[in-house]
This record gives sequence, C-alpha cells and structure tokens, in this order.
Amino acid sequence: MTPSPAWTRKDLIAIEDLSREELDIIFATAESFKSTLGRSVKKLPSLRGVTVVNLFMEPSTRTRLAFEIAATRLSADVISVMGDASSLVKGETLRDTALNIQALSADMIIMRHSAAGAAKYLSEITDMPVINAGDGAHAHPTQALLDAYTLREKFGPDLTGKHVTILGDILFSRVARSNIWCLKKLGAHVTLAGPSTLVPREFENLGVRVCHDLKQALADADAVMLLRIQHERQTSTHFPSLGEYTSMFGLNKRRAAWLKPNAIIMHPGPINRGVELDSDLADSSRSVILDQVTNGIAVRMAVLYLCASTKSLSTAQ
Ligand code: CP
Repeated sequence: MTPSPAWTRKDLIAIEDLSREELDIIFATAESFKSTLGRSVKKLPSLRGVTVVNLFMEPSTRTRLAFEIAATRLSADVISVMGDASSLVKGETLRDTALNIQALSADMIIMRHSAAGAAKYLSEITDMPVINAGDGAHAHPTQALLDAYTLREKFGPDLTGKHVTILGDILFSRVARSNIWCLKKLGAHVTLAGPSTLVPREFENLGVRVCHDLKQALADADAVMLLRIQHERQTSTHFPSLGEYTSMFGLNKRRAAWLKPNAIIMHPGPINRGVELDSDLADSSRSVILDQVTNGIAVRMAVLYLCASTKSLSTAQ
C-alpha cells in the first residue's frame, strides 16, 4: 500500500480538523487493512522499526487494546504506559514525560488524558506524531471514525441523509462531540436525545437537532448510538438517580419498537447494562456493538500508518 499524497498530517487530534477528503482517505486505508485481518499471517511490515508508546492516563479497554493490536499488526514495537504507573504521579509534568519518551527514541505517541487539549499540547511540543485517544470531554477521533466506518459497512459508503440519534450523556461526552463533527461532514443528520440537563439546546449551534422526547428522537433514526452516564466527568448531579434516568431514557424492548425495523443499535462501550441499554438489546441481532470494536483495529491501523507516513516512518508496502 502507498500512503495517499493528499495526507499531510503528522497528528490526529480532532475530527473538526479533518477535511472530507481526509476522512475518505482514512476509510479507504482502513478498508485495505481490514481485508488483511482475515489472513492467517496478519502482520504487515509497514511500521517495522517504529516504536509506538501508548500513554494512557485514564482507564481504557477497547481503545488501548485496539491501538496495541493495530500497531502490532503493522510490525511496530509497542510499549504501553499507564498514568498511575508513570512518574506523572510523582509530580512530573506532561511536557517532561513527553520529552523523556522522545529522548528514549520513541517515534509516535498515542495518548488518553482527562484534560481537554492535552493531545494538541503534546503535538505542539514534540516532533513525534501524536494520536488523540480521548482528551477530557473534547474529542475521541478514532471512536468517531470507527463508528462512521461501521455505519458505512451497514448502509453503504454514502451516509448522506442517514439519521443517527445519539442518546445519553451528551454534555460530558467526547464521543458525542467527535461523532457530531464526523457525521455532519459525511452528510448525515444528527439528533441528540436525553434529559435537558445532559442535552442542552446549545448543541443546536453545531447544526444538530436536540430532542428531549425519546419517541420522536427514535422514530426516524437509521442508527441509535447509546452513551453511558459519565460520572467521572460530572461535578454535580444532573438527574435524580440512575433508576430515574433508566425509566425515562434507557433503551429497552418496548422503546426499541419505536425504531424503524432496520435501525441498528450502537454503543462505544463500556456498556452499563440495564442502565442506558437493556442486555437483550445489546446482544440482539440489531446490535453492531462488537462490529464497532473489531473495526477499531483497521481504523487505528489506518491512522497510525497515515500519520507515520507524514514523518516518513512507514514503509510503503
Ligand atoms: N470506547 C472507548 O473509548 O472505550 P474504552 O474506554 O474501553 O477505551
């Protein structure tokens, strides 16, 4: 494979930075990589000799593992550093941590951090490509890319006019923000639904519909994307109790009947079963939740490969 000459970024920080052409390059590259994942020998030599550091200052299962697997499939050497096992807990600054990682001859950093803007800051102080694996409530670009990739698999490559409803804790969600940017750039219609305290009208300024009536929000959806309540980012109570949230906005069998027959159910994970989504729906034939997880590998292979190519780290194979 040869990286597209139209890709000139060393970093992936946020979807809002990307043009439609760049999104299409990522999807096309991910498609090529996905076709290699079923082979008996899954490894490609593209990032041979490249050292990738996975720096995660917040918990993660899917994102960290998918990046590790993606980098390994591309033959990179991967080292994972958890925030609570690094010298950050001894008072070292993020800047010093990054400069030390660079001094240790790492070539790329993938970072998750609780502060919005942390990945951008890192990209400005190091020469290494920086991939944002989630920064506070700001952005989770590879999640939005794998979500869009999954929607394209289910509905075809043109998402123009498709309706996606994002339901849950929008206010504190980096996944929602990145998905809004991504889906709008791809021509889809986005509806945000949930309690008014978690889905304020201000989001309409991003060109989306805000709907606090669940039946209405689900009626025209081709896909409904559930989000969990993000207690770790909430500083005050936004609804009386989890039980009340579930009784008003949890997706259960009765409410799923309000969806169109072919509508699919998505969730970035982790799922709080029985809270935002009933277990039988999460495991039903309508659910593409595990497809999303699998697609995270090919999408992250594409992002690593493209950003590495800008710094001439990757070999064109
Ligand atoms: N979707 C997502 O970011 O999951 P993790 O927190 O497990 O990485």
